[in-house]
Amino acid sequence: MPSRIKDPSLSQQGLLKIEWAESRMPVLMALRKKASKNRPLRGLKIGGCLHVTKETAVLVRAISDAGADAAWCGCNPLSTQDDVAAALAKEGVSVFAWRGLSTSEYYWCVDQVLDCKPQLTLDDGADLVFTLHQKRADQMSGIFGGTEETTTGVHRLRAMADQGNLRYPIIAVNDAKVKSDFDNIYGTGQSSLDGILRATNVLLSGKNLVVAGYGHCGRGLANRARGMGANVIVCEADPLNALKAAMDGFRVMPMIDAAGIGDIFVTATGCKDVITGNHMKRMRDGAILCNTGHFNVEISVKDLENLAKKKREMRPNNVEYTLRDGDRLYLLAEGRLVNLGAAEGHPSEVMDMSFATQFLSLIYLAEKGRDLQPGVYAVPEEHERLIAKTKLETMGMKIDTLTSDQDHYLHDYREGT
Ligand SMILES: NC(=O)c1ccc[n+]([C@@H]2O[C@H](COP(=O)([O-])OP(=O)(O)OC[C@H]3O[C@@H](n4cnc5c(N)ncnc54)[C@H](O)[C@@H]3O)[C@@H](O)[C@H]2O)c1
Repeated sequence: MPSRIKDPSLSQQGLLKIEWAESRMPVLMALRKKASKNRPLRGLKIGGCLHVTKETAVLVRAISDAGADAAWCGCNPLSTQDDVAAALAKEGVSVFAWRGLSTSEYYWCVDQVLDCKPQLTLDDGADLVFTLHQKRADQMSGIFGGTEETTTGVHRLRAMADQGNLRYPIIAVNDAKVKSDFDNIYGTGQSSLDGILRATNVLLSGKNLVVAGYGHCGRGLANRARGMGANVIVCEADPLNALKAAMDGFRVMPMIDAAGIGDIFVTATGCKDVITGNHMKRMRDGAILCNTGHFNVEISVKDLENLAKKKREMRPNNVEYTLRDGDRLYLLAEGRLVNLGAAEGHPSEVMDMSFATQFLSLIYLAEKGRDLQPGVYAVPEEHERLIAKTKLETMGMKIDTLTSDQDHYLHDYREGT
């Protein structure tokens, strides 16, 4: 199988990482075991554009065991784990990914995946789907379904669908409760702090930590940071989410006010220009800036470059910018998602649920995708319940069961005061 990776000699280390992830992803492993018998993806080609991590490798193995050929690239220039890419290539997967891609190399990798003529796509951020629609529309007739992993990707797909430009059905895996209420909240919360700590090793306790965006990711991050003793400040554009942050006990203010008091800034909005030169000019000497939203547009790196008179790498994934007045600002992971650029992404336990959702969605599309109209679709309710139930079982937890009388009560209106 054609592949392009950084270093094949890293495969042994990658295989160990994957084995570690497998031991912490019981839901996906159970689905994989079942699918290796009935092979519901038999004969299909699946094109994936999703961070090449150890958890993704477990998903790719599940896809292969279910009978499909996978061709894969990363969905971010800085997130590929080269040892995992080497392990996947060794196992015969067509993988085109290495850490530190230029933009042209990134799209070269996307093109290689599309050259493998996938029938189903699995995207994270919608770059693969957008490339397909923009540049390779001739290939569209061979594709009958896709899935999307993240909030920003779902936004892009909905905008495409609203303008009548989306040409095949795509399941919004991100929007499943078993995904965004766990992966985005607990996964991003923990792994973003992990990235900040690996890149800086600063003490969080007592620091003013500014979180931009109090949606799923921001909420997870703010709460985990509070747990580590940080004084968390939230910046929001939506009144409802700002109010939630205030009632959760966080200080809420505009970024222009937070800029002068923050020690650490983390953007988690999916929006662009959340931190610009005007904010940077107000920041204190030593402030740390990073982003955990999908694209590297939340912090204006261009403004930082323009404001700086000097720049040097302090530690891996940590660049010091000295501004003209002598103040120093530190940018982590180039302003790309800090949890994948400076750490390993979300822990396996939470990706277990996201990727179980991905896997069931692909199987659903293999069965039904050809009958669906182009559009953005929700994950079937029964998949969500199955995944939540199985996850609880694997955690050794039991829950209550409604009696038929209780069930009837909940669905009726007659019993009152
Ligand atoms: N790092 C990761 O591994 C990871 C994981 C999941 C999602 N994501 C990405 O993180 C981003 C956020 O995802 P989410 O699920 O939390 O989305 P969300 O829609 O739940 O929350 C985003 C929040 O940001 C707010 N916001 C938007 N623009 C803003 C601005 N200019 N200033 C202040 N607040 C603003 C919105 O009002 C909303 O409350 C997306 O880009 C998503 O793709 C990253």
